[in-house]
Amino acid sequence: MTNPFETALTGKHVVIVGGGSGMGKATAMLAAHLGARVTIASRDSAKLKDAAADIGGDIGISAVDMTDEDAVRTWASALGQVDHLVISASSAAHGAFSDLPTADLRIMFEAKFIGPYVTVREVLPFLTEGASVTLFSGVLSRRPSTGATGLGAVNAAVEALAKGLALELAGKARVNCISPGMVATEAYAAMPEEARENMYAQVGNTLPVRRVGDADEIAQAVVMAMTNGFLTGSVLDVDGGHMVKA
Ligand SMILES: NC(=O)c1ccc[n+]([C@@H]2O[C@H](COP(=O)([O-])OP(=O)(O)OC[C@H]3O[C@@H](n4cnc5c(N)ncnc54)[C@H](OP(=O)(O)O)[C@@H]3O)[C@@H](O)[C@H]2O)c1
Repeated sequence: MTNPFETALTGKHVVIVGGGSGMGKATAMLAAHLGARVTIASRDSAKLKDAAADIGGDIGISAVDMTDEDAVRTWASALGQVDHLVISASSAAHGAFSDLPTADLRIMFEAKFIGPYVTVREVLPFLTEGASVTLFSGVLSRRPSTGATGLGAVNAAVEALAKGLALELAGKARVNCISPGMVATEAYAAMPEEARENMYAQVGNTLPVRRVGDADEIAQAVVMAMTNGFLTGSVLDVDGGHMVKA
């Protein structure tokens, strides 16, 4: 038996929006290691350059703000052929239902739902045969938490988008969604270190695996979603057991 992961990404063009940090960057690293030609994208070119240097090898960078529809169109048309599109970029708005400013809610939906919607649509003409699209939601879609109702709703919307697109793009691309539990990434970089470590420990202790996730563990699931030709319309819970905890 041959190793199915050995050549599945060799020479494939993998485009990762959000590839400059966190789970997107970890995915970029793994895909490059598996022989893919990787392009990472997000808004900040300097961050992308640093990430590409960290990853090493021949990583393409291509800045785009997914909330700017015209910019996404221009960006997509400059990518060339795309074998696998991954969108891990997002922004998260936290706040109690009555307190969260509507403007923050709108910004989050623009970045995490409408941005990916438009991005998939604009990349679609450039997808190759056997292509895949992988989106990112999060456990709050189905395990709500106070102060994160809007975030749960946008995650649920992304999961519905992935399932709907799996049907609409049938024959053109497989579409899946990764739903991570808490993963230690740059998303929490603004927190003071001690508070962040306490949060990781507290959340980790509630999970069957007794710890929060590592970005590399999510990258493994993304590679599976990219390469398993029988997987489409799925939401993969890579969450340390968050969905089944008490
Ligand atoms: N970390 C967790 O615990 C966790 C838990 C559940 C779900 N998730 C979800 O998993 C996904 C990945 O999370 P992560 O922690 O790896 O994220 P991350 O490290 O915070 O990276 C997100 C990236 O998105 C980019 N970005 C933000 N807005 C953008 C826009 N409008 N256009 C283009 N790029 C944009 C940012 O780069 P620039 O600043 O350069 O644009 C950033 O590099 C996200 O969807 C997140 O909501 C994360």
